[in-house]
Amino acid sequence: ESRKRFLTGIKATGQIHLGNYFGAIKPMMELSQNSENEVILMCVDWHGLTNRAKIMAPGELSHSIIALYLALGFNLNGNSILLQSDFPQIHENAWYLSCSTASGLLERSHAYKDALANGKEASAGLLYYPVLMASDIVTFDSQYIPVGKDQNQHLEYASDMAKLFNNLVATDVYIEAKGVEREIPTLIGTDGDRKMSKSYNNEIPIFAAKKDIEKKVKEIKTDSKGLDEPKDPNTCTIFQIFQSFASKDAISYMRERLEKGTGYGYGHAKKDFVDEHERVFGVFREKYDYYLNNEKVVKDLLEPGYERANNYANAVLERARTALGL
Ligand code: ADP
Ligand code: NA
Repeated sequence: ESRKRFLTGIKATGQIHLGNYFGAIKPMMELSQNSENEVILMCVDWHGLTNRAKIMAPGELSHSIIALYLALGFNLNGNSILLQSDFPQIHENAWYLSCSTASGLLERSHAYKDALANGKEASAGLLYYPVLMASDIVTFDSQYIPVGKDQNQHLEYASDMAKLFNNLVATDVYIEAKGVEREIPTLIGTDGDRKMSKSYNNEIPIFAAKKDIEKKVKEIKTDSKGLDEPKDPNTCTIFQIFQSFASKDAISYMRERLEKGTGYGYGHAKKDFVDEHERVFGVFREKYDYYLNNEKVVKDLLEPGYERANNYANAVLERARTALGL
């Protein structure tokens, strides 16, 4: 098997915006289109339980994030979408990893130290969380993990834990996965100033009523160039955000019209923005609703991936048990 196996964790979080789409979702879609890659997306619902005060899992959120990836066109041919809590093998491997890992390593993890530094009572689960994450990775023999800069520590932990375990049992049980840093620029928000983020309220959602999209697009900051003046696409926030989702043709059309200027003001660009947004995401909206309302269809679509993943996980566990003499 010469395909490269990628694993990425996806978290269920409310409304998805163009920054998430451009920075996290679209790259995974593209990775899944290449038949030399095997992409495993895992909705990491267990990771969402580490806060003692909010221990209940938002079940419908997991379902909706899976519907979202399916609707946006994730290629399930040879790739898979999994729900973490369907794979108990992860917990067994996590236990083996935790027994070969020094407790000090976990006490030094950022998430745990930050919680303590902020005077919060950290759950034992928060302390143990890097082990669970390492186990997500090794349980499916994952080789490559797409990462943002902030996730490097946990990934280093994961390959360190795999290596430590292998050394202690003197067998190559777990694969030491490599991080692949995403080289995706940050998408700017409607304020034209900071990165697009829910926290800055400068985001444009991908699924919303047309009038809500129009309202957000109207908020995009522009300079005061007049209708017929040539405009620089590279400094135009409308155009920068537009590029994150529009088709190639639509992008070059807007670029030309802005550069030329004549008869094409920012109002026109904003209208084209809304139309293209509707065109690109309108179809997805229908598919998304369909998957949301047809759990059985989704289950059947995911089944081949589940079967593959179970085979991987069972083979890994067998190696671990054999090495440990269990
Ligand atoms: P927010 O900042 O709105 O809370 P999240 O932190 O939930 O967004 O983002 C989830 C993922 O989406 C991030 O790990 C990142 O990869 C991607 N992402 C979010 N905002 C942007 C952005 N402005 N540009 C590029 N990628 C982004
Ligand atoms: Na693929």
